[in-house]
Amino acid sequence: MTDSVTARFHVYPNERAAARALARHVSDAIQVKPDLVLGLPTGRTPVGFYHELSGMVDHGRCSFRSVRTFNLDEFLGIPPTHPGSYRRFMEAHLFNRVDLPASQINFLNGDARDPEAECERYEQAIAQAGGLDVQILGIGTNGHIGFNEPGPRLEARTHLVTLKLESRRSNAALFGGQLDRVPTEALSMGMATILQAESLILLAHGESKAGCIAAVVHGPLTTELPASFLQLHHDVDLILDTGAASALTSEAQTVQR
Ligand code: PGA
Repeated sequence: MTDSVTARFHVYPNERAAARALARHVSDAIQVKPDLVLGLPTGRTPVGFYHELSGMVDHGRCSFRSVRTFNLDEFLGIPPTHPGSYRRFMEAHLFNRVDLPASQINFLNGDARDPEAECERYEQAIAQAGGLDVQILGIGTNGHIGFNEPGPRLEARTHLVTLKLESRRSNAALFGGQLDRVPTEALSMGMATILQAESLILLAHGESKAGCIAAVVHGPLTTELPASFLQLHHDVDLILDTGAASALTSEAQTVQR
């Protein structure tokens, strides 16, 4: 992305400022297009962002009344009501706190009898919505986006994934800290599904993500670092705190106030 004219870096002094900036960005996008089709991530990273966004809705500065959402991924083999499901995570952190009608929430069903058909259904639902306008992304320390894990190949479309041990470990907190309870499989949007969004916004904070962010921005395209494929997209914003930006070139590290 060093040579890209479109990737934009936004570096903030701390995690809270980054979360606020992203919430403002999304709120602005909803203002411009009230029926925005918004792709959403889970994980520790977006929690502050969801908090800021629900605060803006509480204060009447933003409304999800006409927004449609699609989450990136879901564990396979647990129902949406399971306390460890991403669906429950989203309800706790965003859906139950904003004025988003349930009928406009789209989610992969981890309880589906036929996972392949479920993936196909999700692809069609995204297409029927007119495609994703804005896809927000977190990034795993191994460079995964959604549950597109590093490996010799990447899947283009929504698909069934066997989770890496490190991804299961980083989700153990959702399952009472017990690794053996974390599902071994998940359903995830594919790389092409993600890259076909009109715009992508990657949120990352903390020094543990710094090496990965630098490799995504300055390194080669490689399936061993799925997020490196963001370099192919024409409209990418990276919203970072100083920790996550700390391994970038000094020019990209300019802090916004
Ligand atoms: P994290 O996970 O926000 O918990 O670091 C990010 C991700 O795995 O995409």
